[in-house]
Amino acid sequence: MSLEGRIAIVTGAARGIGAATVKLFVARGATVVASDKDAEPLAALASELPEGRVVTLAGDVAEEATSATLVDTALERFGRLDVAFLNAGIAGDLTPTHEYSNAMFERVMAINTNGVFFGLKHSIRAMMAGGGGSIICTSSVQGLQACGFTIAYTAAKHAVMGMVRTAALEYARHNIRVNAVNPGVTDTAMMQHVGDSLAPDDPDSVRAEFTEAIPMGRYGTPEDIARMVGFLASDESGYITGMPHVVAGGMTAHWAPPMQVPVE
Ligand SMILES: NC(=O)c1ccc[n+]([C@@H]2O[C@H](COP(=O)([O-])OP(=O)(O)OC[C@H]3O[C@@H](n4cnc5c(N)ncnc54)[C@H](O)[C@@H]3O)[C@@H](O)[C@H]2O)c1
Repeated sequence: MSLEGRIAIVTGAARGIGAATVKLFVARGATVVASDKDAEPLAALASELPEGRVVTLAGDVAEEATSATLVDTALERFGRLDVAFLNAGIAGDLTPTHEYSNAMFERVMAINTNGVFFGLKHSIRAMMAGGGGSIICTSSVQGLQACGFTIAYTAAKHAVMGMVRTAALEYARHNIRVNAVNPGVTDTAMMQHVGDSLAPDDPDSVRAEFTEAIPMGRYGTPEDIARMVGFLASDESGYITGMPHVVAGGMTAHWAPPMQVPVE
């Protein structure tokens, strides 16, 4: 699944799934323009990788200018864009819907949905000019199914599925493929946030409950997800577009998460 010579952009690249994907892309031969709101861990990631293979750019994906600059940087530095991994996202609050704050709802949508929209818009204009490409958007198992106490996150990740399907149809004849990766419970700062929110005094108990609900009996690793993204970025997936790709240890075969309890 070579990505030799490919030019890629990655958002949410400083840690977790994004960072693992930057590493995998570089290991398979790509050069990456990596972006995150946090400049420091992003620079640390780039410094671990071979010189010249990762260009970094700090920015908030909720601002359209971040996506525009990211794509323009790839074009100016490397002349084209082959792969876009639109991955930045936040979990938001874990709160019942009638108590969910409007401000947090808007922030989750601004990052997880608008950010992907801006990334699609600017990547597509570059890929149309360049004759094609592969775009992978990070949705979630919550882009396909619901989970309690996460109204904004579940809505945002469903919206990502809608955008993936729409863009896939519109640009299939331009040789641009658009797919979603749908991680299950993955061992990153985001799941740490979920544990800390649900049981501040005992986040490990949340981990134990989630682990119990996963048929394979373990959290996914960022590398588990990155391997799917690498496949979708490569020519090996050349006839696949507009689809979800669940990487979840069997969770969606029959998922019974601890958070499906009804609101009291
Ligand atoms: N961890 C999971 O269980 C899980 C499950 C399904 C989907 N996802 C999705 O995977 C993606 C990556 O999450 P992760 O688990 O690696 O979490 P993470 O918190 O480790 O990484 C997310 C990265 O996105 C960056 N980011 C957050 N807001 C940003 C913004 N406004 N602009 C730019 N960058 C921003 C963060 O700084 C961070 O580096 C997210 O879209 C998330 O919703 C995660």
